[in-house]
Parts: sequence; C-alpha cells; structure tokens
Amino acid sequence: MQEVADIIKNGGIVLFPTETVYGIGANGLDCKAVEKVYKAKGRDFKNPINLLVSSKAMIEQVSKDITKMEYKLIEAFFPGPLTIILKKKDIVPNIVTAGRDTVGVRMPSGKIALKLIEEAGVPIAAPSANLSGSPSGTNLNDIIEEFKNKVDYIIDGGECDIGLESTIVKVVDEVPHILRPGAITEEEIEKIAGKVVLDYENTTNNLLPSNKQNHYKTKNKSILIYDKNEKKQIEKVEEVANKYKNVVIVSCSEHCKYYKQRQVLDMGSKNNLQEISKNIFRLLRKADNLNPEIIIIEGVENKRNW
Ligand code: TXA
Ligand code: MG
Repeated sequence: MQEVADIIKNGGIVLFPTETVYGIGANGLDCKAVEKVYKAKGRDFKNPINLLVSSKAMIEQVSKDITKMEYKLIEAFFPGPLTIILKKKDIVPNIVTAGRDTVGVRMPSGKIALKLIEEAGVPIAAPSANLSGSPSGTNLNDIIEEFKNKVDYIIDGGECDIGLESTIVKVVDEVPHILRPGAITEEEIEKIAGKVVLDYENTTNNLLPSNKQNHYKTKNKSILIYDKNEKKQIEKVEEVANKYKNVVIVSCSEHCKYYKQRQVLDMGSKNNLQEISKNIFRLLRKADNLNPEIIIIEGVENKRNW
C-alpha cells in the first residue's frame, strides 16, 4: 500500500476498488495528475470529478461553509456510498470541479480505498473506472483491458461489495436534493433529514453535469420490461423475445426457468435487491459481449410508476 500511495503522491494514476465500484484515481490537488485521469477515461473536461477523502479533517481541507444539514449527512453516511456536493476551497484545482465553485466529496468505507487515501495523505480524485459512457466496473475482469496500459498501478480487490455507485446529494436551503440515485436510498436520507427532493428525473436540470451524457448504456439495443403481475411480465418478455433471432435475457433467478430455450443471465433473486445491484453492471457487460440483437432486462421494482 505504501508503494501505491507513493505513486499517487508522485502524480501517477491508480485503478483501485471501493465498496461501490472501481475507481481510477490521482492526487486530487495535482492538476497534471487529474488531467491524466480525464484522458484515461476519455472524459469530457466539463464533467467534474469527485474527491475521495479518509477523514473529517480532509473534508474540511477541501470544502468550506459546511451547513448543519451537510454535517448531519456526513455524520450519518460517512464512510459509505454517499457523495455530497459542498462549497469548494481554493486548494481544489479548477480541473477537478470543471470550474464550478462546488466539489463532490465522499469517504469510502471500502478498506483498500480508505487505506490508500490515508497512506497517500491527500484527497484522491476518482471517477468510476469505465470509459466514459459505458457501465461502471465492478470487478477487474471487466475493465482491465480498457485500462491496463493507461494506469501506473492496479489493485485487485475482487468484486465490489455494493456494485452500484454512490448516491449524490446536494443540500439546497437545508434540504437534500438527490442528483443521482445510488446505493443509499431516498428513504434512508429522508429518515435522517426529514425531507428529501428527487432531482434526477429532471434530466434537463443543470445540477448534475453528466446528465447531458449517455449513462450505463449497453452497446447493443436493450429494453427494460416490468409488470407487477409476474405472469404478464414473463409473457411480455416472451412477446418481445419472439420478434428477434438473437436475444439475451437478464432475468431474476425465479424466472430463469421460463426462458430455458434462450440465452439467460441470472441477476439474482427478485427478493434480494442487494444481490441484483451487485451483479447488474457485470451482467450488462456480459450481455453486450454476446452481441445479441436485443438485451431484455427484467425490471424488479417500479417505485415511481414510470
Ligand atoms: O461510487 C462512486 O461515486 C464512484 C466511486 C469510484 O467513488 N465514483 C463515481 O464517479 O461514480 P463518477 O465520476 O463516475 O460520477 C460522479 C458524478 C458525475 O456525474 C459528475 O458529473 C458528478 O458526480 N459531479 C462531480 N462533481 C460535481 C459537482 N461539483 N456538482 C455536481 N455534480 C458533480
Ligand atoms: Mg461514472
């Protein structure tokens, strides 16, 4: 870990696991190092990068005027899968925040990530480890080809525990607004804050810079099919599947038996959403690699009646 921390301190870039997804990181206070991260990902320089920190002191090193509600969220969810958008201090280079006066801050709970930041002694600017536009990497297998020649060190931590990115929150007038859904649910935030606003359905808002881009997109055509009624859902999947020759179905464990004649990927029990979270990005990549005409993904929950 000392060796990897030295690489960070000396301006190198490292691929490493966090509890959410893999990150590709550099010294967040070093412009040149951060530039390498943008380039390795093919990331738009207008899309800011979050800082990973390992202590409260480090949060205060990079951000200022932290409000009561912001501290409340920090107390409740750090370390863990929550990113908070805070007012930035001058020490944070503009390249990290893409010129904004705010900076995203997260304290990961994954032991490897936390130890790496601690040893490096600097906040680490780290986006998810995937080429811009493709699903986040949740295990090394899926991303090593994309990055092996672009980074100075790779830490293999196996599969990420959670497999989904952190929830991103910005506090406006002491009310948390969720800018990106993630591992921490709106209910969990509401419990702590009393109130929460969902700001991610309005994709035209300017709060999340990356909203203008495609996210989590499979290369091949894909469709999400959900019906509260299981029988109807299975019928709908069959109906769509019948229109194509080469189909991959990403199904909950309970339904795999109904699609026996087809290529099926088991995402886990519909009664275990954590298992599904952990598997979903890996399976989207796997489905893509089979190059079907269409990927059919079973929905498992419809909270908002979309
Ligand atoms: O779980 C995670 O958050 C992972 C792990 C590696 O920590 N990281 C991650 O980073 O998902 P990334 O770069 O893939 O997504 C961060 C999002 C981007 O959509 C970016 O636009 C937004 O955070 N963001 C960064 N700084 C921001 C700011 N100052 N204001 C608003 N949004 C910001
Ligand atoms: Mg990302």
